[in-house]
Amino acid sequence: MSPTKKVFTYIGAILILILLLTGWTLFFLSRRNDTKNNPELHGDMGRNWHNQPAPLRAGPKRCTAQDYICCHAETGPNPSEKGLKLVIDHDGGADDALAITMSILFEKYFNGPKIAALTTTYGNINQSQAIVNSARILKLCNRSDIPIYAGAKHALISGIESDFFFGFDGLGDDGYVAMEPIAIESVNAAVGLINLSKKYEGDLVIMAIGPLTNIALAITMDPDFIGRLSQLYVGAGHIYSESFPEPEFNAAMDPEAYYILADNARVDKVTIIPYSQVYVSLNATKKWRVNVLGAIDSPIIKALNGYERVSLASPGRVWSLLDPAVAAMALDNSIIKEYRNTDNGIILCGDKRGVNTNNFTSKNPNSRLVYTAFVKKYKKFLFDVYSASSCSIKHS
Ligand SMILES: *[C@@H]1O[C@H](CO)[C@@H](O)[C@H](O)[C@H]1NC(C)=O
Ligand SMILES: *[C@@H]1O[C@H](CO)[C@@H](O)[C@H](O)[C@H]1NC(C)=O
Ligand SMILES: *[C@@H]1O[C@H](CO)[C@@H](O)[C@H](O)[C@H]1NC(C)=O
Ligand SMILES: *[C@@H]1O[C@H](CO)[C@@H](O)[C@H](O)[C@H]1NC(C)=O
Ligand SMILES: *[C@@H]1O[C@H](CO)[C@@H](O)[C@H](O)[C@H]1NC(C)=O
Repeated sequence: MSPTKKVFTYIGAILILILLLTGWTLFFLSRRNDTKNNPELHGDMGRNWHNQPAPLRAGPKRCTAQDYICCHAETGPNPSEKGLKLVIDHDGGADDALAITMSILFEKYFNGPKIAALTTTYGNINQSQAIVNSARILKLCNRSDIPIYAGAKHALISGIESDFFFGFDGLGDDGYVAMEPIAIESVNAAVGLINLSKKYEGDLVIMAIGPLTNIALAITMDPDFIGRLSQLYVGAGHIYSESFPEPEFNAAMDPEAYYILADNARVDKVTIIPYSQVYVSLNATKKWRVNVLGAIDSPIIKALNGYERVSLASPGRVWSLLDPAVAAMALDNSIIKEYRNTDNGIILCGDKRGVNTNNFTSKNPNSRLVYTAFVKKYKKFLFDVYSASSCSIKHS
């Protein structure tokens, strides 16, 4: 090689090196920008509903909750993309109002499942009041298009009396009177549940957050009912222990209904969420409920603060309600830390009537049970979901 040729070869090699370095740097910078601008890469919310990849936590600055929600609302995929539908079977109290409003906001701002219906039961209050409250909550959210089915008025055989924990009307006793007649579906909740399980076969998620009478009736009328569901989340019962020796409220309200559910449950279809586990792992303080969650400036939070005013004034510093915990974990499974398969049941006779049994080593488990959950994720989830409305109002 001549000396001139050698010089050209060196210069060529250096140029190629510079080009490679520039290309690589540009590629790297563009990826960093993607991560920064794409809100879907931040946080876990809604991951279960449309199989998003695991969130990337890279990037110099993370979106705040508010950024995340606003961007997400504009860029997220179509809410019904994955086709999941939701029914909330509830007993009309302020805790049910949390579960319902949360699901409505999650559908609207986080591409959550489409709410197909509310089915009502007695529990916190009587069933007619649960219908009034359903309509009131839907109206608050401008979602009076969601159908309401009237369900069971009493336990199958016998239960316990309501404790009116959230007031005599279930929503804080502020003297509300329904002004308009309430349109309810022509068939009973159990029939409605069966119909919806056929219409949305494989895609229907049910949150059962009251006594289980409607669910037990649907199972009894149609033994294939549970098999057609995507998932049934049951907020009822305790894991029996020294700290939780008494029956849980929803289970005790209709032990026979719980028994029918447990007897027909399948580990791939039924998720049990015992209140004992929520109480220990998803608890916040009333202070947080009032000063942080309750301070969000939105019409829904203002209304919820009123609905909970009776229970928030009750003694104790802990805020740990079952229904919103069930809803949050059903909507975002990443809040759940540990499941355990169990042969779950309930005692019907004797002084332990209404107390649950669990065999975690059973070779024939009938359900999967939520054993522990992440409280920080839960609180962030609540905060983000309820901030979504105020955020959208600000940005619209
Ligand atoms: C419902 O609609 C009314 C009237 O359009 C509006 O003022 C209110 O903010 C809406 N509520 C929600 C929760 O979107
Ligand atoms: C249901 O409860 C409401 C509120 O406590 C009460 O006004 C109403 O009379 C009750 N209805 C029935 C049928 O018991
Ligand atoms: C439920 O399904 C049955 C049979 O298909 C039908 O007759 C009935 O009208 C349906 N009811 C509702 C409320 O969808
Ligand atoms: C929640 O419950 C756990 C276990 O009982 C307890 O250690 C923790 O202090 C509770 N948290 C609050 C905020 O009360
Ligand atoms: C739990 O299930 C295991 C395995 O099926 C069985 O050997 C054991 O007796 C059961 N325990 C109780 C208390 O029923």
